[in-house]
Amino acid sequence: MVYVSLDDSRGGVGAVEMRDTPIPDAAYVCPAAGLFDMMATGLLDFGRDIGVLGDGRPPPTVGFCFSFPCDQTALDAGVLLKLTKRFQNEGAVGKDPVAELRAAFARAGEPAANVVALLNDSVGTLAGGRYTDPAVELGVILGTGTNAAYVERAAAVPKLGAAAAACLRGGRVVVNTEWGGFADASLPTLAADRLLDAATPHAGEQLMEKQMSGMYLGEVARRLLEELASKGLLFAGRVPKRLAEPGALTTAHVARCDGDRSLTLSATASVLSAALGAASTSYLDRRLVRRVCHLVALRSARLFATAVAALLHQIGRDTVDTPPVAAAVDGGVFEHYALYRGYAAAALSDLLGKKAAAHVGLRRVRDASSRGAAFLAAAADHAEQQADGVAEPARALAVA
Ligand code: BGC
Repeated sequence: MVYVSLDDSRGGVGAVEMRDTPIPDAAYVCPAAGLFDMMATGLLDFGRDIGVLGDGRPPPTVGFCFSFPCDQTALDAGVLLKLTKRFQNEGAVGKDPVAELRAAFARAGEPAANVVALLNDSVGTLAGGRYTDPAVELGVILGTGTNAAYVERAAAVPKLGAAAAACLRGGRVVVNTEWGGFADASLPTLAADRLLDAATPHAGEQLMEKQMSGMYLGEVARRLLEELASKGLLFAGRVPKRLAEPGALTTAHVARCDGDRSLTLSATASVLSAALGAASTSYLDRRLVRRVCHLVALRSARLFATAVAALLHQIGRDTVDTPPVAAAVDGGVFEHYALYRGYAAAALSDLLGKKAAAHVGLRRVRDASSRGAAFLAAAADHAEQQADGVAEPARALAVA
């Protein structure tokens, strides 16, 4: 959750307050109303704690960063098309998330909370990144899930129709690509990918995400190691019990093994012992485990770079002949896995050529998605106030 107030300069921010709230396990499976209640009460508590809500203050302007595929029908309305990642909340799909959040605010005793903008986290990242850096043309998420948004010519989006496209300021529109949902015969899969997919709550969906994002990299590695061990190629044919447990390896484990430069691969040994209960492993075992982890991360980074290059190509910014361009990238994998950032940059250079790639900045931006949601909400509210002749400073809360 974020609170921002903007000042009048471009890229200027008056005040920022943030709170990270961990998502409790129940939130993934409870009925939809419970999920929205959690968001509404969390935001209200935060607003009261930082002193921008309560005691007769005017109700807050709220930006709602909702990280799922939606059919957006207005700045403040849409229809949830599907849930992804671990979320399986009954009664959410097909509804307007903004109407659901408003109802939750009403149940929490704040019926006047003014939700002015609904946006995907990739769009929030684009807005948050671009607010401070005009070179930013892509907003990318590489965390639990993955996605990207970019600015497109409205005329290039057939579903908008000519009349709607003509109304858009500057003739441009933000496209949320939902690239995590890419699934095509050109995306090669391994047996481990297919087994992983079948065991997820949304089997058959988000296939590229399942090869790329933080929720899955540990699990891909675990399944590959399980396959090697069951063929007698690892751990002298003894399959450690926990190697068969979904979730036993995380992306953080993959990063740790991949980055293990010790002589005896001691970091890999301690991951295998702590995560899988494999206490005595040989050097060759550890080398193979490190290699598998490296390849899982490398495949993800190459997909990431390919998707970034495709979007740059789409907007004609993949050459040296145009000004430098940047992608704002938010999310834990990109933030914490330094080697990964190197693989992504190298893959982009392979794809675009060294010179063109040197024109592309992959900017790590923490919390850009929620900040961007607050910026957009504050800007939307400010525009409305100006139209009404009111000149309050632009400020907003965002729930993400
Ligand atoms: C969702 C996207 C979201 C991404 C990152 C994906 O699973 O479909 O809407 O942007 O995760 O949170």
